[in-house]
Amino acid sequence: MAAPSLSAHLRELKSHRKRLETVSMREMFAADPNRFDRFSVREGALLFDFSKNRLDQEALAALVEVARAAKVEARRDAMFAGEKINITEDRAVLHTALRNRSDAPVIVDGQDVMPDIRRVNRAMKAFANKVRTGKYAVTGGRITDVVNIGIGGSDLGPAMATLALSPYHDGPRTHFVSNVDGADLADTVSELDPSTTMFIVASKTFTTQETIRNATSARDWLVRKLKKKNVGAHFAALSTNLEATRAFGIDDDRTFGFWDWVGGRYSVWSAIGLSLMLAIGPSRFDEFLEGAFEIDTHFRQAPLEANIPVLMALIGIWHRNVWEYCSHAVLPYDNRLARFPAYLQQLDMESNGKSVTLDSKLVKTETGPIIWGEPGTNGQHAFYQLIHQGTSVIPADFLVAANAQEKLADHHDMLLANCLAQTEALMNGRTLEEVRSELEEKGMDEKEIGRLAPHRVFSGNRPTNTFVYDRLTPAMLGRLIALYEHKVFVQGVIWNVNSYDQWGVELGKVLANRLLPMVKDENAGTPENGSTAGLLDTIRDLRKK
Ligand code: F6P
Repeated sequence: MAAPSLSAHLRELKSHRKRLETVSMREMFAADPNRFDRFSVREGALLFDFSKNRLDQEALAALVEVARAAKVEARRDAMFAGEKINITEDRAVLHTALRNRSDAPVIVDGQDVMPDIRRVNRAMKAFANKVRTGKYAVTGGRITDVVNIGIGGSDLGPAMATLALSPYHDGPRTHFVSNVDGADLADTVSELDPSTTMFIVASKTFTTQETIRNATSARDWLVRKLKKKNVGAHFAALSTNLEATRAFGIDDDRTFGFWDWVGGRYSVWSAIGLSLMLAIGPSRFDEFLEGAFEIDTHFRQAPLEANIPVLMALIGIWHRNVWEYCSHAVLPYDNRLARFPAYLQQLDMESNGKSVTLDSKLVKTETGPIIWGEPGTNGQHAFYQLIHQGTSVIPADFLVAANAQEKLADHHDMLLANCLAQTEALMNGRTLEEVRSELEEKGMDEKEIGRLAPHRVFSGNRPTNTFVYDRLTPAMLGRLIALYEHKVFVQGVIWNVNSYDQWGVELGKVLANRLLPMVKDENAGTPENGSTAGLLDTIRDLRKK
């Protein structure tokens, strides 16, 4: 197992921080007219600009050394080669095989997994084509609405991507139900015609409590509304657990499988993407895979210094471990990427929200940051105040398309101007002198200036990365997701954690199962903990009224 390398490098990295703390980003740009060229990478129609960070060549070189010492390249190759890098579950990590567009085999346990991947992909396409052309019909004829029932990775990927690619929709309408809160299912089906609705039950394990509850209630809804017992034709399943899908009553020819080496949060490329494929069609889905494959190739071939996901990861390490910033905002200036931050929350926080190293020791450094965000410009009118002037520094990724999907007055020019303005404002800030002279120009008296000026000062030097791409196409979305996947991978390697398990979500599930009988029946007992018991008592009391 590779020895943790970050701790050994922290002292040096911190000395770079010390040096750079006294240099503003404004000064860095003034001193180096080529700063943008030096600190940005273009990959086809995608640009990654990281010049608005407190980073110079020396610090970057030191960060690249960290990646080298952690053997990022060897670990990357091991992942692509199908080695069992998920050591707590003894599994390979091969979401990249799902979008492997080359002829190269991918071997797991001595077997090429590519033929199976292609077989399922062909079956998905055949099914999607039948549904989209109306050849697959249900009670009321052609399927008009598809409801994906799943949670976590079985929801966030397809839900995010389906929204992102709405201009490409030419199939049935798609809906997503994830929460066990009955409101989610009730609100969704209230607008649907049961006779032309299909439910896709998406669950890798097919044991997830929320999903099975929702799927069962969806089936009850169909049985009730259609007044027929067998509604199996209205269901498809996406799962690795054929026994359970059969037990639920879903035919094998409408069950699309995947494999244990596809992690839930990395599964949008697999059968889990069926709802997306139904919405945009198989060839657009291929473009989506193609975009991700291009980034896989870039990740495998580009030198570390010009490797976008590696740079994203290293800048994240710089912020998290050296400058000790604990959160990271993702701010898409692309309204259809509204669910991208939520998607990345699972991708990043479920992967790297870990405290134990690969050799089962407590980590010595901080690991994954808190990921959050909302689309700009809405965020500007909500939480950006804190990003600009709050006491915590929050590094942020800005994402924006050069071209809009629709021509609508000057909306897109305004969006672009706002995006560019924000990263510049965060970097430049506004000094007390600048504020004072502005207020003086307005004729404000000295006393008033003294009182108001401090409120209008912006410290600046707030770090941002900006992604600019031509347009949010299926291929571009595939590229963006793959970039973040590999960023998370590289950071996991540097932190020496297993990014591919999620034991942290288990305890709550166990406790919920223990509490459920008590919630259902007062005579089933009382929770041991005083607070939980008090809360349940109140709930019981309120439910009687
Ligand atoms: O509880 C977390 C989790 O296991 C995620 O990792 C996963 O994406 C989600 O639940 C859903 O799991 P499944 O696809 O098996 O229903």
